[in-house]
Amino acid sequence: MQPDPIEPQARPRILATYPMPERVVAQLRGFADLTVLDGETDPQRVLDQCQGMDALICTLMTKVSADFVARLPQSVRILATYSVGYDHVDLKAVQARGLPFINTPDVLTEATADIAWLLLLGAARRGWEAQSMLREGRWIGWEPTQLVGADVHGKTLGVLGFGRIGRAVARRAAGFGMKVLTFQRNPGSGDPLPDHVELRGSLDEVLAQSDFVSLHLPLSEQTSGWLNARRIATMRPGAIVVNTARGGLIEEAALADALRSGQIAAAGLDVFVGEPKVSETILSAPNTYLLPHVGSATTSARDGMGLSLASDLEAFFAGQPMLSQVDTSV
Ligand code: GLV
Repeated sequence: MQPDPIEPQARPRILATYPMPERVVAQLRGFADLTVLDGETDPQRVLDQCQGMDALICTLMTKVSADFVARLPQSVRILATYSVGYDHVDLKAVQARGLPFINTPDVLTEATADIAWLLLLGAARRGWEAQSMLREGRWIGWEPTQLVGADVHGKTLGVLGFGRIGRAVARRAAGFGMKVLTFQRNPGSGDPLPDHVELRGSLDEVLAQSDFVSLHLPLSEQTSGWLNARRIATMRPGAIVVNTARGGLIEEAALADALRSGQIAAAGLDVFVGEPKVSETILSAPNTYLLPHVGSATTSARDGMGLSLASDLEAFFAGQPMLSQVDTSV
């Protein structure tokens, strides 16, 4: 008697909430049936589309709350975010559901550090104001007092959060002859510090002793609103703030007040509270250099992010270990 034919292993079904780079789509289609939504952020509509899916690839635009996780169809066996940050995801709920969760570290480190430097230089040298003057036909020629900004070379840069991106920002500071101050919870862990980097005893000390501060902390309950009016008052008068991490790290009203009073000379911001809306508080504050969350927006970084998720998803469905699984227990 002929044996029953063996059921072919079904291809996993993956839902992505946003269009992705071609190389990423090709890799995912190599092992899975992929459905790509046209930039869907509404949790209910994402949940509706998840019916019968094995995996969900979302972005930081979808709030993965406890309620969202509870209502994810049982078919969904793994969650992926097209981002390194995951403050939009309720990790406790993900862990309670026993859902493996992957993100995209490493591949965007250098691109994001570059953008921190664009913001730092753009804020210090009044890049936006200068560009607007020129484009709007208000430039009437070189003047000794025109568009005078802050020196960068030789100053002190405080790097708040010394993970991969913070370190990459600090490395670049050597080329500008800057001293870097930072704080490490476990000093001595990781690679040795370069000569131009000095440790201080706390984030507050770093903040108080720096001419420029660049934020690279994860957003969490502990760090939400970290740069508030009280802390801003401890900063060097005329310091410059750069944020490529998450808008919620800064109390925007306090920052705007400090920009108006001159306590903070300028701010370079790639991230905002309540994105994609940018508050009137920030838009109307003086001396800002603002970008629409483009830290990782290079071809190699965005391809790398998607390819890293695709490789991990392929590994997951083949029962192999994944490289970028988030530890949801911490
Ligand atoms: C972008 O902000 C990211 O977390 O990847």
